[in-house]
Amino acid sequence: SPLFAALTATALLFAAPAHAAEKTYQVATDAAYAPFESLNEKQQAVGFDIDVLSAVAAKAGFKVKFINTPWEGIFATLSTGDRDVVASAVTITPERKQTMDFSDPYFEAKQLIAIGPNSKIAKFADLKGKKIGVQTGTTGDEIVQKLVGKTNPDIRRFESTPLALKELLNGGVDAVVADNGVVVNFIANNKNDKLKVVDDTSFAKEYYGFAVKKGNKEMLAKINKGLATIKADGTYDKIYKKYFGK
Ligand code: ARG
Repeated sequence: SPLFAALTATALLFAAPAHAAEKTYQVATDAAYAPFESLNEKQQAVGFDIDVLSAVAAKAGFKVKFINTPWEGIFATLSTGDRDVVASAVTITPERKQTMDFSDPYFEAKQLIAIGPNSKIAKFADLKGKKIGVQTGTTGDEIVQKLVGKTNPDIRRFESTPLALKELLNGGVDAVVADNGVVVNFIANNKNDKLKVVDDTSFAKEYYGFAVKKGNKEMLAKINKGLATIKADGTYDKIYKKYFGK
């Protein structure tokens, strides 16, 4: 009967769990950064960061929508309000902390130098006078600037790290300085090309965090709560194993 239907609908409305009200947050990711974020055949973002933040969201009771967003300008999407979170293998740095807030760290990384098979580059200082590929505005870019000067034309800047590494394969640059996980992944997927890595002990440890608009304490609290939960209940370790195998 219509009355019964109406009653059932009302009951369902009231019985609807908090889930129905779960907010969806827009997440910026530069999905040219495997294994942290890349696009699958269906053009969906996949990778370590995607799995971690999705698990965080599930535990903390919110939803996430990942939107492929170019690295250049990615942080500006927080201040404009176009995105709520940046999940993009972002290193927490003192400079960035002045303009945005970060979650607790969720990954430890460092820079690596990728070189061609016949290169004699053996340490960071050997990059002086060489053509050095970096992704614009990354911590790799910053470190190389410190070595050779910000405006040095030997710094060849690319809009993505894979583009810089492809240029290394093509011989257009002598080396690439980028995050270890991405360099190792690229080399593993380009086995015939025999790129090598130089691990310079002077490079400091870096920690990835999820970035939010400065002052967005509510979002940060949710993310940190979810992160603590997935670290404690084994979910984080499972995801880590899936991508890094140990
Ligand atoms: N960790 C480095 C940084 O924060 C590089 C991150 C680049 N991420 C990306 N998805 N392209 O500067």
